[in-house]
Amino acid sequence: MDIPSPLTRLPDHKLTLGLFLPMQEGAWSPSTAPRSTSWTFDYIAHCTGRAEELGFDLVFGLAQWLGKGGYGGEMHFREHEVDPIIANAALSSLTKSIVLINTVHILYAWHPLHLAKFGAAMDHISAGRWGINVVTGYKPSEYRMFGLEPIEHDHRYVMADEFTTIMERLWSEDDELTFDGKFWKTEKAFLAPKPGQRRPFLVNAASSGAGLEYAAKHSDLIFITSPAGADPVKACEALPAVNTRIKDLAGKYGRQVKTIINPHVICRATEREAEQAYRTILENEDTVAADNFVRTFVTGDTVSWRGHSRAQWVIGGNVHLVGTPEQIVEWFAWLSDAGCDGVQVNFFDYLPDLDVFGREVLPLMRQAGLRNP
Ligand SMILES: Cc1cc2nc3c(=O)[nH]c(=O)nc-3n(C[C@H](O)[C@H](O)[C@H](O)COP(=O)(O)O)c2cc1C
Repeated sequence: MDIPSPLTRLPDHKLTLGLFLPMQEGAWSPSTAPRSTSWTFDYIAHCTGRAEELGFDLVFGLAQWLGKGGYGGEMHFREHEVDPIIANAALSSLTKSIVLINTVHILYAWHPLHLAKFGAAMDHISAGRWGINVVTGYKPSEYRMFGLEPIEHDHRYVMADEFTTIMERLWSEDDELTFDGKFWKTEKAFLAPKPGQRRPFLVNAASSGAGLEYAAKHSDLIFITSPAGADPVKACEALPAVNTRIKDLAGKYGRQVKTIINPHVICRATEREAEQAYRTILENEDTVAADNFVRTFVTGDTVSWRGHSRAQWVIGGNVHLVGTPEQIVEWFAWLSDAGCDGVQVNFFDYLPDLDVFGREVLPLMRQAGLRNP
């Protein structure tokens, strides 16, 4: 059966627009500077509702499994998080048009049939607006929480390929599925209902060779990172090669994908005010939380985020866009010119920053042709 790509369900803007939800305590920034941002479901629902009103295409919830105190420090950075798949089930009843994507660590003791069934249910409840960010998990501590031994980096993607293949077949095929895989088996498995459009959005955020091969084969949206750190000028020099590589790989499988990057946006009326807001986040760094946060990425086996400095980790997010509405939109245009199909923004103080974004930045994005009128 020829199944249409879920990408056809996204509006045709030059730059897809997503919101990186603050699912975890402190969101992206290990900083105690004052802000409203909160991990609570109420706050997440407000952000999602506001993003939908403003015409965002999607919201995204990350998932991590942390121990007591999260990344530590005064703020217990990232300790609290409402599970994003459960949050999305609730959000799908509160929203009408926005796409809801959440992360699942597929190698932590799931069977593909479980996730295929949950995905079909989410698709049904949300009327085709659900997507899964398939992650393999890179933290040995997370594997051990599930009673598992950590798995070698590239092998994780071999397993992810089989898992996703079974899930896709369960979603799309009309017959019962018997599958004798290397890692998962199933006999006469069947899903009813199927996802209404036969496949939810598949998302991935890999950077490595093995990860990108997987993503090119299965994913619709690929979250990319800047190999050159958070400076937008350096990032825009490095990103064309990243985007071309991904599109070429997807082409090899006869597929189309969209690449999305997550800028941290600090937008104020003047450049001076924006820079002051940036400095305030840094000056209030929670040192213990920041040290632990950085160490996780520097000592792990993942390829993403290698170019970011410690200070850039305290601000958090990928590319840092700090300036006036005009400057932010100019950088969005550069990112688009560098081959990025979308931006998934994150903020420090979500609800007020989202209001500024809607009032000041979005109209300029429309004027610049990045968003349809
Ligand atoms: C935007 C973005 C979101 C991510 N979200 C998660 C997440 O929620 N949970 C997680 O364990 N990993 C997450 N990752 C990490 C990726 O799944 C992946 O492990 C990492 O980018 C390294 O790529 P590699 O596996 O190809 O080395 C995210 C990465 C990016 C860039």
